[in-house]
Amino acid sequence: MIFNQFFDNTSSTYTYLISSGKGREALIIDPVIERTDEYIFVLDKLNLKLVKVIDTHIHADHISGIKELCKRTNCAAIMGEKSLSEVVTITVKDNEKINIENIELTSMYTPGHTDDSYSFLMKDRVFTGDTLLINGTGRTDFQNGNPLDQYYSIFDRLLKLPKNTFVYPAHDYKGNKVSTIGNEKKNNPRLQVKSPKQYAEMMNNLKLEKPIMMDIALPANKKGIILK
Ligand SMILES: [Fe+2]
Repeated sequence: MIFNQFFDNTSSTYTYLISSGKGREALIIDPVIERTDEYIFVLDKLNLKLVKVIDTHIHADHISGIKELCKRTNCAAIMGEKSLSEVVTITVKDNEKINIENIELTSMYTPGHTDDSYSFLMKDRVFTGDTLLINGTGRTDFQNGNPLDQYYSIFDRLLKLPKNTFVYPAHDYKGNKVSTIGNEKKNNPRLQVKSPKQYAEMMNNLKLEKPIMMDIALPANKKGIILK
């Protein structure tokens, strides 16, 4: 299997490229528009055909590369059904299969960070978007975020996965690349709460600055942006 994890150091975003092998179909999760040439370079080098691109949710901190990749490769654009993106060509509900050659992902509706946040399970690993981060969780104070929804998405869905499931988030700000469900359950400071109420109180008192790119990224990602 081909599994590439790209990092955009401007937005601290992780992007994932997946394929069963050289010369086969490929899928990309959470691309960043400024990195499009890098993805195309790797796709060409490995003779991969990009057929599907997924955004886990509408991002507020960077502009997605989803529309540019669709323009350049003719791939399908996938998001959860709650997404307000005008770019999407395939929407998925909770527990739907997304297939490319020899690879299968299952969608999990995991709202809380935003109301359009989905995670994607692929055998031994889960792409958690901004729902579950390594030693953290995505903020819940805009884009119809809701800390109680996030609590249930994490505790009732993600943490119920086998404990050795690898966790691949959409961001990391401290250089962590991968974790496991077991490790997050045990060590993630945000998850050491005794009740949904306690979790919500903690999330409602984070007092975070607004993302710098938010006013540009949200409308851009709803409409979809292509490079000139
Ligand atoms: Fe986000």
